[in-house]
Amino acid sequence: MIPTLEWTPEGVNFLDQTKLPLEETYVVATDYKQVARVIRDMIVRGAPAIGVSAAMGVALGIERSEAQTLPELTAEVAVICDTLAATRPTAVNLFWGIGQVRERYNELAAKATPIPEIKTAVVELAKRLYDEDIAACKRMGAFGAELLPMQGTVLTHCNAGALATCGYGSALGVVRAAVERGHKIDVLADETRPFLQGARLTAWELMKDNIKTTVLCDNMSAALMAQGRIQAVIVGADRIAANGDTANKIGTYGVSILAKEHGIPFYVAAPFNTIDMATATGAGIPIEQRDPREVTHSNGKQMTPDGVGIENPAFDVTPAKYIAAIITERGVLRAPFEASIRAMAASR
Ligand code: MRU
Repeated sequence: MIPTLEWTPEGVNFLDQTKLPLEETYVVATDYKQVARVIRDMIVRGAPAIGVSAAMGVALGIERSEAQTLPELTAEVAVICDTLAATRPTAVNLFWGIGQVRERYNELAAKATPIPEIKTAVVELAKRLYDEDIAACKRMGAFGAELLPMQGTVLTHCNAGALATCGYGSALGVVRAAVERGHKIDVLADETRPFLQGARLTAWELMKDNIKTTVLCDNMSAALMAQGRIQAVIVGADRIAANGDTANKIGTYGVSILAKEHGIPFYVAAPFNTIDMATATGAGIPIEQRDPREVTHSNGKQMTPDGVGIENPAFDVTPAKYIAAIITERGVLRAPFEASIRAMAASR
């Protein structure tokens, strides 16, 4: 399995995704501030991986705290959570992960639990969230595999794979599960400018699994769809509004329209904690704006004239009407999404 992140006695160990595919190196975060930096600098990225990293960051902050009293520790926990919450705004999993550990802390602190016991409990919780993420990916795979053709080519955008989760992947987990069940699937990976998650990461991890993968520039899929060379599209998600509108990597929205125009099913695969019931529609999803240098420079080389205007939104929102199904670990959601999401949320 690809070791995206891992709790170790030294701290949280991250595979440095900024160095892939050329170097497989690791960064150990030994305090919560380093975990925040790892998330902000996209050493770890992808919504589910960010969520578990943030949970581990809070647990690490609590575990390494030198506070001697609960009021002192509670004040520190607030700073730890605020620091991690300020890293990236779009993936709701970040706030979910922080919230899970913070809630556990609050419960134990309210009962005046001794600090050493609190430390053990929050670390155990963070490790459990890691295991649950992998299990959720496997279940998404089982639900989603049957939606993919027995033979055909599937387009994906960005990286929603093992690298974007604690292992196995959401969208790529569905591809993996289909291949494991005997489907003959080739993958087309949009390169995903400007950060190149498709070219660098999706291609790297699928090739490790011997799944046939071809990288496309982001402007090529329309032509291939018109030639009948794509049978399905599957992507991950950073935040799904209560009506099914889905924020994912910039460029996803365009792909969804192309798929609709060509009669190709467009699937989203995401753990249920990516659904933000507090956000009614996609219009309410905050979109991260990143450093213009990601666009102006490629591999350290300047690609644009000095002073030119630059846009660099990291995500866009695909309206629910373009989505054929949302695959979660609890089952497959279909339109009307507002009702199907509400029913699934209420079923637990
Ligand atoms: O900016 P990134 O690389 O964190 O964006 C990642 C994506 O957009 C993924 O598609 C999404 O998080 C789903 S990952 C299972």
